[in-house]
Amino acid sequence: MTLLRRKKNVTGEIVLITGAGSGIGRLMALKFAHLGAVLVLWDVNREGNKETGRLAKEVGAVSIHTYTCDCSKKQEIYEYADKVKKEVGDVSILINNAGIVSGKKFLDCPDSLVQKTIEVNTMAHFWTYKAFLPAMIASNHGHLVSIASSAGLTGASGLADYCSTKFAAVGFAESIDVEMHALKKTGVKTTIVCPYLIHTGMFDGCRSKWPHLIPSLDSEYAAEMIVNAVLREQVYLIMPRTLYIVVALKNILPVKMIRLLENYLGAFNFMDNFSGCLKKD
Ligand SMILES: NC(=O)c1ccc[n+]([C@@H]2O[C@H](COP(=O)([O-])OP(=O)(O)OC[C@H]3O[C@@H](n4cnc5c(N)ncnc54)[C@H](O)[C@@H]3O)[C@@H](O)[C@H]2O)c1
Repeated sequence: MTLLRRKKNVTGEIVLITGAGSGIGRLMALKFAHLGAVLVLWDVNREGNKETGRLAKEVGAVSIHTYTCDCSKKQEIYEYADKVKKEVGDVSILINNAGIVSGKKFLDCPDSLVQKTIEVNTMAHFWTYKAFLPAMIASNHGHLVSIASSAGLTGASGLADYCSTKFAAVGFAESIDVEMHALKKTGVKTTIVCPYLIHTGMFDGCRSKWPHLIPSLDSEYAAEMIVNAVLREQVYLIMPRTLYIVVALKNILPVKMIRLLENYLGAFNFMDNFSGCLKKD
């Protein structure tokens, strides 16, 4: 947790959101639109992305640029990044939000799907940073936002591919933040977001075993918390708050007790009733 800072002004900042075509990507887009930011919206889902653009216009967005970009493809990321630089300018707030989940037990998950999950949830972060970080470093101004997951802090059964990609996303974003400090580029901020279950449809069928202890999150609330964390330049956002305690316990308890705790909290069976499926392009 970070002490509350004053909220920064993002009017005129160029905000790129990947996976803006639905869920919290769309909700964040609408919030940044309201704050006067220039929106660059990427999604593989053209229609969903167009709809986000339309809704952003309705709430008074000053400038909206939508691109149908498949973030599982490095070349496509680089091509669209060049287009954005030419057509809009240098991105100053990069939000890596696009994500997928197979929802399969590790041995049931086809290799191609494991690879796709890694490409979208992790590798895309590397390529977008490669594309947009140099301008942020040059001006010592920018903000890198990683929408990871609580699955990036603790493992869960039936989520081996997803957890690995989210652990990697956390490690990557954290390392670049350390690197920015080492380079004395402290004007380039980082926010790493680790939410538990959010009601967006991505994890349909899954629910919290102990909703009073670890409640699932309303999507509007989650998006509001994320945007506020960006405005206050908060480095880590873990939601709900009780997860800060779970993570702390994980780091101090013996492994046997951790497994008992994980079982008690539902990490063994969280995916048993998963009914979500990957959205089509
Ligand atoms: N929903 C949850 O419970 C939850 C919890 C923790 C973290 N998250 C993370 O939050 C982020 C947003 O998820 P959401 O809940 O809004 O789900 P969502 O499915 O509504 O949104 C994901 C978006 O990413 C897009 N996308 C998927 N593959 C893509 C690709 N190859 N290229 C470009 N865009 C692509 C989808 O079209 C979709 O619009 C994800 O990274 C997810 O892992 C979600």
